[in-house]
Amino acid sequence: MSVTSDLTVIMKQEVGKAAAAKVKSDSVVGLGTGSTTAYAIEYIGERLRSGDLKNIVGITTSFQGEVLARKYNIPLTTLDVVDHIDIAIDGADEVDPQKNLIKGGGAAHTQEKLVDSLAAQFIVVVDSNKLVDKLGSTFLLPVEVIPKAVMPVMRRLEQLGGKPELRMGIRKAGPVVTDQGNLVIDVKFDSIDDPATLEMTINNIPGVLENGLFVGVADLILVGEIIDGKAVV
Ligand code: 5RP
Repeated sequence: MSVTSDLTVIMKQEVGKAAAAKVKSDSVVGLGTGSTTAYAIEYIGERLRSGDLKNIVGITTSFQGEVLARKYNIPLTTLDVVDHIDIAIDGADEVDPQKNLIKGGGAAHTQEKLVDSLAAQFIVVVDSNKLVDKLGSTFLLPVEVIPKAVMPVMRRLEQLGGKPELRMGIRKAGPVVTDQGNLVIDVKFDSIDDPATLEMTINNIPGVLENGLFVGVADLILVGEIIDGKAVV
């Protein structure tokens, strides 16, 4: 591993740890998806094991999160059982200065938006590479669609000024399939000037389940940075 990628891993660990430290005993915790959140899940598990944290239940946002939560012995529940979430921790692919996000790099944004937006406090864990002046500058916008709607939704996204492509899996052997059994269209927009309107407009297209714009959902952004060769939050 190169020194830069080593430091990126350490940044993710530090930011995950800082988020896990914010979880209080006797709470319902939304557990996001992705490599940064994975460290938060690990540290929540560590705090439970050490006795520093007691009586929490997690609500996962993906199969990946569920596997990790079980690995670290975090008790799980569902939104059928609990009527509130105290805190949610999740990663992001882009964060703008207004704390709006693009998510869905792991194709989990539908469940993530459900859980993150219900949380009394939603903490985003990112490294500094994710900070952008304007959403859409570095990352494509993920849109989850039911399989039969792929072509009509792509055509509509083109009319909206986007360049859509169906997300393919490893070695392009087939499309990525979400935990809901749907597909993901990634869209390049030259400039996302009004994320709130675009979020609603895309979600209004028949066949779209959810898109990766998270507008006004995040409460706190924890950013991992490298300063003087050290990873800090
Ligand atoms: C998954 C997500 C992830 O939170 C996002 O892709 C960030 O992941 P990572 O921490 O691995 O960079 O939105 O759908």
